[in-house]
Amino acid sequence: MVALIVVALIVVRPGTSRVAHPSLLSDSPRDGSESALLLRGETRAARITGFPQRLNPFTELPQLIVLGIESSCDETGLALYCTSRGLLSHALHSQVDLHTDYGGVVPELASRDHVRRITPLLVEVLARAQMKRTDIDAIAFTEGPGLAGALLVGTAFAHGLGMALDVPVIGIHHLEGHLLSPLLADPPPEFPFVALLVSGGHTQLMHVAGVGRYTLLGETVDDAAGEAFDKTAKLLGLGYPGGPALSRLAATGTPGRFRLPRPKIASGDLDFSFSGLKTAVLTASRQAPLDDASRADLAAEFQAAVVEVLVTKSLAAAAQTGATRLVVAGGVGANVQLRASLTTGAAAKGIQVYYPDLAFCTDNGAMIAFAGAMRLALATPAGAFGVRPRWDLGSVLPAA
Ligand code: KG4
Ligand code: ZN
Repeated sequence: MVALIVVALIVVRPGTSRVAHPSLLSDSPRDGSESALLLRGETRAARITGFPQRLNPFTELPQLIVLGIESSCDETGLALYCTSRGLLSHALHSQVDLHTDYGGVVPELASRDHVRRITPLLVEVLARAQMKRTDIDAIAFTEGPGLAGALLVGTAFAHGLGMALDVPVIGIHHLEGHLLSPLLADPPPEFPFVALLVSGGHTQLMHVAGVGRYTLLGETVDDAAGEAFDKTAKLLGLGYPGGPALSRLAATGTPGRFRLPRPKIASGDLDFSFSGLKTAVLTASRQAPLDDASRADLAAEFQAAVVEVLVTKSLAAAAQTGATRLVVAGGVGANVQLRASLTTGAAAKGIQVYYPDLAFCTDNGAMIAFAGAMRLALATPAGAFGVRPRWDLGSVLPAA
């Protein structure tokens, strides 16, 4: 870690020290040239996604270029987000190949790989956006929750680079990144909305009134939906990561031949429980040796059960809060069956559903850069060096 900071200091701008950065929200370009902001606007590479104008909190603010760094688990993601031009570039390295032999993420290997990848990825996002390091106005990194060692790599890199560039550094809650990621889409949802957060570690329904204004409506009492996909995939002899593999197998099977429970579907609250489903799959698979067709049918039934529960509870959350917009975020949001069922179910109730681009459903740097830009523009103060491997989203600060 120390080495990363030292390298950043030496490579980027020797001899500078970190100071508070009042110029961030002023009109003065840091390099003193009056044309710097204009030139930036003219030389950037084409943005990938349009900035959501209706939500644009930056209209009165100068252009801000935020580097986002995600390193909470098994993906190293970096991105450059511009408050006036949208997403400029993003790059990702997935560690799937590294962990496959172990059937899951090995934390120490994950940390070491983040160290290896992070600098080349910075070079890559800068090159794609045709920018230099000194064009970066602020840095946002995933502060938690996640694997402590993996988080520390992103944190150390962000703070080292921030110190060297003399720019603010802000820690972002990983789930807030996921929660706001649908706002990268065009058109984006307007606040307020209900968000279904379905990742490997979390399954939550949130009411989102604005940046940092989150109310937890319900969550899983045991396994997360992604975790259930991963564990069930393992039971069915599929590789890591289990979610995509199981959903591919499910696409070749038929639900209904095996009958699995829909846990908590009629509980009357907005909580979830998925650990029993995995046990039910285990029981079903032990009753008779499974041939390929049976495995596919069991996978299809498992997916149907999870999707039915997620859709039912999401629509109930919208009904309870009166929300007409529903946002899906997190890795399980990439599930095709979930998207199809939710869109159909919501349309019948006059609710519009928003999904992030598939690339931004799973972990990525763009969502962290975007959340950082939102928070910096809304004057959330930069934070101190640190990581929070466990961090309740309900405890993040309101944005302004
Ligand atoms: O958001 P994410 O990338 O990382 C966390 O923050 O956890 O989510 C990863 C989770 C994994 O459990 C993975 O199996 C699941 O999302 N996932 C899927 C699909 N793609 C990823 N689950 C079901 N269907 C998919 N297509
Ligand atoms: Zn995630």
